[in-house]
Amino acid sequence: MRILGIESSCDETAAAVVEDGRFILSNVIASSVKEHQAFGGVVPEIASRQHLVSMVPVLDEAIGVCGGLEGVDAIAVTAGPGLVGSLLVGLMTAKTLAWLSGKPLVGVHHLEAHLQSPFVGWPDRPPPDPTFPQLALLVSGGHTLLFHVTAPRQRLLLGATRDDAVGEAYDKAAKILGLGYPGGRVIDELAATGDPGLYPLPVGLRHSGDLDTSFSGLKTALSQLVSRLGDERVDRDLRHVCAGFQQAVVTALLLKMEKALDQLPVSQLVLAGGVAANSRLRAETEALARRRGLSCVLPPRSLCTDNAAMVAAAGQLAFDAGERAGLELNAFASSTLSRRGGDLSLCRQ
Ligand code: KG4
Ligand code: ZN
Repeated sequence: MRILGIESSCDETAAAVVEDGRFILSNVIASSVKEHQAFGGVVPEIASRQHLVSMVPVLDEAIGVCGGLEGVDAIAVTAGPGLVGSLLVGLMTAKTLAWLSGKPLVGVHHLEAHLQSPFVGWPDRPPPDPTFPQLALLVSGGHTLLFHVTAPRQRLLLGATRDDAVGEAYDKAAKILGLGYPGGRVIDELAATGDPGLYPLPVGLRHSGDLDTSFSGLKTALSQLVSRLGDERVDRDLRHVCAGFQQAVVTALLLKMEKALDQLPVSQLVLAGGVAANSRLRAETEALARRRGLSCVLPPRSLCTDNAAMVAAAGQLAFDAGERAGLELNAFASSTLSRRGGDLSLCRQ
C-alpha cells in the first residue's frame, strides 16, 4: 500500500510517497529557513506564505514517481502540533486531494511522525525493525520528551523539559555566540574539534529525582561565560566554548536516559527529532546501548529534520488501526503527547 504524506507544520514544505509504511519511494522537501534567517527564528506569516508557494511543486515531484495521485492509496497529513497558519496549507491540500480522488485521508500527529522516522528506509536500504519495549528520546526545536514505548503507538511520557527544548537551547546559544539561525548544526560542527573540558557548563537538573530536563540555566551560564571572556577570546576559543555547551546538553540527556534504563525494562534505544542529527548525542546514545546490551536505532540524518516520509509512515499505522479523517479535520497548535497522563491518542487537542 502506498501512502502520500504531507507535512507543513513549521518551515518545511514536504511531500513523500511511502510503501507499506517503511519504504520511501519519494521524499521531497522545500525549506523556507533562508527567509527566516534575518529574523533569528521562524516568522509564522512568512512560513505560511512560503508553504503556499512551494506546496504544489513539491507535491507534483513527490507523486511523479508513481504516475500521479492515481498511484497512491491514501493521504496522510500533519494536523498538529505546529504553526496553525502553516498546518492549514498542508491540511487544505490533503483534504482537497482526498475529496477530488475519493482516497482515504488520515490525520497525523507531528511528534508521532518523528517517532516513526528511525523505522523508515529505502527499497535498497531497508529500515530496522522496531522491538519493544523502547526508550525513545524525541529532541527537536520545540520538544524534549522521553517516552517508554511498549508497543506501536503505546507510550508513556517519562520526562520532559521544564523550560527550553534542546533545539531551542542550541538556537539560543548560537544567537549568543553570533552563529546565526538555526544553530544546532554549526555548534555541533565546531564542537567536534573543541575541548569540552576547557569551559565546563552546568548540567541542568542533574540531581532531581525525576526524568525531567532543563536548559534555560545553561543558556544563562553560556551568556555569562561569553560576557566574562569577552568577544576576542570567545572568537578565538569558539570551538571549545561550543564543545563545553554540547557536553552539558548531551550529559543532561544521557543522565536521564540512564536513569530511565535503571527503572524500566527496555530492549531498544531510539532517538528522533531534529537534534537526533547531533553527532555527539548519536555517538553517546550508541555507546550507552552497547554498555547495556540494547539495540539502538537512530534515524538517518536526512530524516531527523521535518519531512513527509515520517508522516506517511505514521499515517500507515493510523490507517492500519482503522483511523479515517473527514473534511472537518482541523489544525491544532499544541500537543497532548507532551502532557503527562494526558490523552495520548492521535490528533486530539
Ligand atoms: O525537528 P526539527 O527539524 O523541527 C522541529 O520540529 O522543531 O528540529 C529543528 C532543531 C533546530 O533547533 C536545530 O538547531 C536543531 O534541530 N538541530 C540540531 C542539529 N541539527 C539540527 N541540534 C543539534 N545538533 C545538530 N546537528
Ligand atoms: Zn519536527
